[in-house]
Amino acid sequence: MSPARTIVVGITGGIAAYKAVGVVRAFVLHGDVVQVVATDAALRFVGKPTLEAISRNPVHTDLYEGVAEVRHVAIGQSADLIVVAPATANSIAKLAAGLADDLLGNTILASTAPLVIAPAMHTEMWNNPATIANIATLRSRGVIVVGPGTGQLTGSDVGAGRMAEPETIVAAALAALEAAGSVAEPAHTASAVEPDLAGMNIVISAGGTREPLDPVRFLGNRSSGKQGIALASAAVSRGASVTLVAAHLEVPPPEGVTLVPVATALELETAMRAAAADADLVIMAAAVADYRPVSVRDAKIKKEDTGDTLTIELVKNPDVLVGLSADRPREQVIVGFAAETETDADALLELGRGKIARKGCDYLVINRVGWSEGFATDGNDVVLIDRSGDIVTRASGTKMLVADRILDAVVTRPSA
Ligand code: PMT
Repeated sequence: MSPARTIVVGITGGIAAYKAVGVVRAFVLHGDVVQVVATDAALRFVGKPTLEAISRNPVHTDLYEGVAEVRHVAIGQSADLIVVAPATANSIAKLAAGLADDLLGNTILASTAPLVIAPAMHTEMWNNPATIANIATLRSRGVIVVGPGTGQLTGSDVGAGRMAEPETIVAAALAALEAAGSVAEPAHTASAVEPDLAGMNIVISAGGTREPLDPVRFLGNRSSGKQGIALASAAVSRGASVTLVAAHLEVPPPEGVTLVPVATALELETAMRAAAADADLVIMAAAVADYRPVSVRDAKIKKEDTGDTLTIELVKNPDVLVGLSADRPREQVIVGFAAETETDADALLELGRGKIARKGCDYLVINRVGWSEGFATDGNDVVLIDRSGDIVTRASGTKMLVADRILDAVVTRPSA
């Protein structure tokens, strides 16, 4: 029998602390030695006796207890895995800054074990740029972020920020431990842990289709492919197997993807249908032409032959997203984008709600586009809604950051 592993469960001060009892219990039942390190604030939400009874060990809180045994580093050094659940916005900020002003901070800094955090906070705090940046920092250090999900929060409000369920946290933590080989590896200072999207098959379309008119001209759009590429890049770095169906791209695709180059909407449809057949997640970030010329000339259209005006007859392209959504395998999650020029935020949201109803996908990323917005820029500002039209999350920043937030939201939730 393999020796029991030591799992440090860090509990910080949020209402979801009561659910941490379930996390502790699951590890104990799994046969692990659990050391609970709770902040003072955590103990306002859940009692020390409960945690001691469930963990079968004393609960550690005080930085200045056990000084002779150098407890502030000993707990971290003994850990095979550290799980912080719930991780409040404040504790996430402290982690990102590397602060060690309490026992939990010292424990984490003194450890080289994989670190898993389960954020829990109100939606506004989760969507705050400070939290977004802190989470990105932690991810870049190899910290595994589980959740949060969307649902009922403290009080009557509903939104993103609800702590993942204990079984989800424990499953992610055990996977991290497994990946690190049960031996403390320098996981959150290097990258030895199992990334959170490992095992997922994700298909992403990116770029803009080009509909030929003649051998030298096409009808196209200004998509650079940056947002789709950022999604592919984020998904690859988080361990997913990624197929990138690429219409015209203005920047190189990331390494590690299976690249399927396409030109027209019809080609994109064929490629997406083939790739999506066994995908867990499909994201349609490409800007797909709604119409194509009825006929493509074999030779260059000459102005001498056309006169002062030229009329080109167009025919509607199939809506790829509608088709994929209608014919999807069970369990597959599909995310569409909505590129709209509407400037009023409420009207933009309403356009998105109408669009997701027509398209039949699970989520829709609404981004305003214009001469200097959305298309070809390095940043984006999006609202993600679900099928009921509810806002799941908002994200604003680099396209990479937006990509991570989209993945966070759509991967941790079952389809709406
Ligand atoms: O590539 P970048 O320069 O980084 O710019 C990013 C972006 C603005 C292109 C991207 O974020 C974006 O919004 N992509 C979707 C563009 C678009 O076609 O939006 P739409 O509102 O017209 O279409 C809605 C959805 O239906 C999209 O997911 C689109 O891929 C899909 N669609 C549209 C038409 C069609 N015939 N078939 C489709 O599947």
